[in-house]
Amino acid sequence: MEALKGLILSGGAGTRLRPLTHTSAKQLIPVANRPVLFYGIDAMVEAGITEIGIVIAPETGDEIREAVGDGSAFGASVTWIVQDRPAGLAHAVLTARDFIGSSPFVTYLGDNLLKNGISGLVDSFREGESDAMVLLTPVPDPSSYGVAEVEEDRIVNLIEKPEDPPSDLALVGVYMFTPSIFEMAEGLEPSARGELEITEAIQALIDRDMTVDYEIVEGWWKDTGMLDDILEANRLVLEEVEAELSGTVENSAVEGSVVLAEGAVIRDSTVTGPAVIGAGSLIENSRIGPNTALGEDVVVRGSSIENSIVLAGSRIEEVAATIEASLLGRNVRVGRRQGSSEAIHLMVGDNSAIEVT
Ligand code: G1P
Repeated sequence: MEALKGLILSGGAGTRLRPLTHTSAKQLIPVANRPVLFYGIDAMVEAGITEIGIVIAPETGDEIREAVGDGSAFGASVTWIVQDRPAGLAHAVLTARDFIGSSPFVTYLGDNLLKNGISGLVDSFREGESDAMVLLTPVPDPSSYGVAEVEEDRIVNLIEKPEDPPSDLALVGVYMFTPSIFEMAEGLEPSARGELEITEAIQALIDRDMTVDYEIVEGWWKDTGMLDDILEANRLVLEEVEAELSGTVENSAVEGSVVLAEGAVIRDSTVTGPAVIGAGSLIENSRIGPNTALGEDVVVRGSSIENSIVLAGSRIEEVAATIEASLLGRNVRVGRRQGSSEAIHLMVGDNSAIEVT
């Protein structure tokens, strides 16, 4: 088989993660302090795929380009492909047609995360003769995904976000294609959500009696398109981090796997791993973790935070209640109001979500 190319789709608008995605791409939201997209690039390189195209949107593309660079930091060579509008995954694949040429290729959704990477799937595809291959996993809420109906070792039907799912097998955002997918994608009409659906392009291959094989995911898989999924992905990735204390710990209890980056300080506090704390952060008189990732230059004083992600430059000071299952963007301030008023005082951007007691 001709050498496989990689295609990572990072053009989506991330509407389900506003307000963070008003100012930043969803694929750059950090999981255990690393942009989620980086795990996808690693997975490709581990599977032996180093010629990678990344599809980006005009609005968020520059930021993604800057974060990834030319790919050499990952051992890959990256080609940037701009998708002019968010017209669906099949549209994104069509946009990459010149880059792919006549090669077979792996398409990977830039907000997906798989514990065991994609090497197993890629190897089976290399060895087999399929026209396409997909990855499936049982989920509790199949109507949020593309769903497959299988008979023995063949897929007989695929349907995008069905109201009445024929099975609980969701399509994971990793697809192996040959260039035959382009013709199928070209023949599509926009779906009810106004997009060219990759699920329908694969169904078109099935309808033409082409061979579409599948594998079931081993280990966990997360589509990080929504808050709870990001927090869960953060927890799962943190489970595997190894303790490394490069920063300073003063008069504090640090338990479990904690990564403390250089220049970070923990003082008069308790930190329970798994947790990662970015460079230049300061934790004082506080309780952090478990399952918590604090980015660079974060300050937490006189507060408790667990099962959460806090992006760079944010400050949490003297908050009485524990902050839990939360995602704070960059340079956010959460503090206590001086004085006796019971009222809360907010300055919050568009589409934020706050839950108070
Ligand atoms: C997309 C696909 C869907 C697939 C999912 C996996 O959904 O359309 O078939 O199951 O990714 O992450 P979307 O994230 O666009 O809702």
